[in-house]
Amino acid sequence: MSGPRTLGEVLDDAEKTLADAGAWASRQDAETLAAHVLGRPAQELPVDEPLGAAAAGRLQELLADRARRVPVEYLTGRARLGGIDIQVGPGVFVPRKHTEPLLAWGLKVLENVENPVVVDLCTGSAAIALAVAHARPDATVHAVELAPDALSWARRNVAARAAAGDTPISLHEGDVTAPDLFSGLRGGVDLLLANPPFVVEGRVLPPEWEEHQPHPALFSGHDGLVVIRAVTSAAARLLRPGGGVAIEHDDEQAEAVMSLLGGLQAFEDIADHTDHNDLPRYTTARRI
Ligand SMILES: C[S@@+](CC[C@H](N)C(=O)[O-])C[C@H]1O[C@@H](n2cnc3c(N)ncnc32)[C@H](O)[C@@H]1O
Repeated sequence: MSGPRTLGEVLDDAEKTLADAGAWASRQDAETLAAHVLGRPAQELPVDEPLGAAAAGRLQELLADRARRVPVEYLTGRARLGGIDIQVGPGVFVPRKHTEPLLAWGLKVLENVENPVVVDLCTGSAAIALAVAHARPDATVHAVELAPDALSWARRNVAARAAAGDTPISLHEGDVTAPDLFSGLRGGVDLLLANPPFVVEGRVLPPEWEEHQPHPALFSGHDGLVVIRAVTSAAARLLRPGGGVAIEHDDEQAEAVMSLLGGLQAFEDIADHTDHNDLPRYTTARRI
């Protein structure tokens, strides 16, 4: 009779099952879930040791969910941005590593600014806003979000980061398309960041997004630019002269976002930048 299988054998099977289900990082996802179950870093998994029955059962449940294309971050309950953990689950967009370069650009803008005022539009889990606050304890950071479910995740993250010692941020319930958004900050903001919804309505996405993440976090009208348009106007209203804006977008929207910013006649140094996959990912500009 054969004994319990080793973790390595379980992972080999899991990798194949997840790949067959269409999950794109099947080995990495299987290891992430095993690390979550065992409470160890993924780099230190005991692959040659037998996996106990309780851990094997829990891991199989999570692997079955992942095979249904539930985002791996919903299963572990966390994602990372800017070196901090962000709690996520059903009802909130999962922060992506695609956003790291936008965050890095924003922090660079702030390098020579003391006590900066920063705004994060469409904050979701509050990941970008909290990553800025973590990197810049002297910053006053405002974040705004419309969806109640996302707001409850954001509140949880705001409280967790404050408890961890970061400077607390201000979280606002609001609509970034409102022309009076943050009217008290008009002309006084040093940096405005946004990863808004930008997918063209009707486009088919992988199940991790289409079936499991909230529709308003992803889709933005017939051209995907409805919220981005509002973000560019908000940046023109809110930034001080010299202040910086960075807006994440789909890899086919670079020209459109640059032209929206250019059309406002309020910005200079308008440029587009690529992500870790070398795809166009975010547009930046400086307020004149
Ligand atoms: C792509 S998600 C990004 C979340 C977060 N910034 C991140 O990078 O993880 C976009 C977010 O914008 C929010 N949103 C969509 N339309 C909005 C609006 N008009 N006003 C405020 N938030 C909005 C969605 O609910 C969602 O949380």
